[in-house]
Amino acid sequence: MRIGPIPLPSPFVVSPMAGMTDTAFRRLVKRQGGCGLVVSEMVSSEGLVRGIDRTLEYAEYTEEERPVSIQIFGGDPDRMAEAARVVEGMGADIVDVNMGCPVPKIAKHQAGCSLMREPGHAATIIGAMVKAVRIPVTVKMRKGWDDSDLSAPEVARRVEDAGAAAIAIHGRTAKQSYSGRADWDFVAGVARAVRIPVFGSGDCIEPEQVVERLQAGVSGVFVGRGVLRNPWILAQAQDLMEGRAARPVSMEARGRFLLDYMQLLLDDRGDEIDGFRHVAPGQATAAPARGRERWVINKLRALCAWYTRGMESGSQLRAAVNAAESTRQLREQIGEFFLSGVRPSRPPALVTR
Ligand SMILES: Cc1cc2nc3c(=O)[nH]c(=O)nc-3n(C[C@H](O)[C@H](O)[C@H](O)COP(=O)(O)O)c2cc1C
Repeated sequence: MRIGPIPLPSPFVVSPMAGMTDTAFRRLVKRQGGCGLVVSEMVSSEGLVRGIDRTLEYAEYTEEERPVSIQIFGGDPDRMAEAARVVEGMGADIVDVNMGCPVPKIAKHQAGCSLMREPGHAATIIGAMVKAVRIPVTVKMRKGWDDSDLSAPEVARRVEDAGAAAIAIHGRTAKQSYSGRADWDFVAGVARAVRIPVFGSGDCIEPEQVVERLQAGVSGVFVGRGVLRNPWILAQAQDLMEGRAARPVSMEARGRFLLDYMQLLLDDRGDEIDGFRHVAPGQATAAPARGRERWVINKLRALCAWYTRGMESGSQLRAAVNAAESTRQLREQIGEFFLSGVRPSRPPALVTR
């Protein structure tokens, strides 16, 4: 399995998710195995071209994540080409274009899913990018704009002609957002109609579903929310592909994952956390979290909202994490919940404050 000249060790991909698939999370998923490619959160082409620090942070990655794809969004062909050059200059293996995001802030600028209504413009963007860089340019799109405009087959053909090296399709229209079910038959139909690899995306929550979807006629499978719930899902899908039982994941391993995630976030940003390095031992929990520490807490809250779904007593952990005021408290709550078998002592009522 290749995207252009880039070999993928497996057909299973960590789907791009804004706010979620940061470099720390991707590294940890990659370490579990079974992951053929990781895609960054979507990054603004304007921010990249202007060199805005926040934007560049979203595009950060580490060597252990390779092969790595950076996803950009925007609607101006020249700026997108320029942004692709920035991504190439950062050493990424692949640059991906977001044509699926339905958030109005993005879609209103001829970007994200609004490109599904303008196949010609979508192809112009891809053509400009392909001319500008040597790394493969790929596209992540939806089934279409709405049920009366299922444009993915046309957009796929046009961007293929413009030089795109692969496509991923989330099997829902922009109008659907996340309602209904992803239409994998439709995605497989598009895959048959183009020569470049087509990846499918949507609704793989169990490793069995990932394998079934792969067998339904796509080159690979992007897994989004399923990875947030279960970061081992790609490794488990690979187990199944290779004829083994899917590896079990202990509560301890699940707890360790969250603690490692927090530690990586702190390691990456620790020196920027207001006062984090200066707080004397024992005082960290007394002072309210500020600045970057607050950022780490919010990242953990966001992940736990997905991570605890379907988990026994998951709501209790969510409540405890939402109530935590420092990374130290978070560590304690996670440790209690997963590692000691003791459920967090804080009553769920704390969430409502
Ligand atoms: C929180 C969240 C953020 C997302 N952000 C992006 C994004 O930045 N770029 C993108 O192409 N898709 C994004 N998606 C869509 C996913 O990559 C994926 O295509 C979609 O969720 C369907 O797959 P799933 O059912 O496996 O989650 C996002 C999805 C979620 C849930």
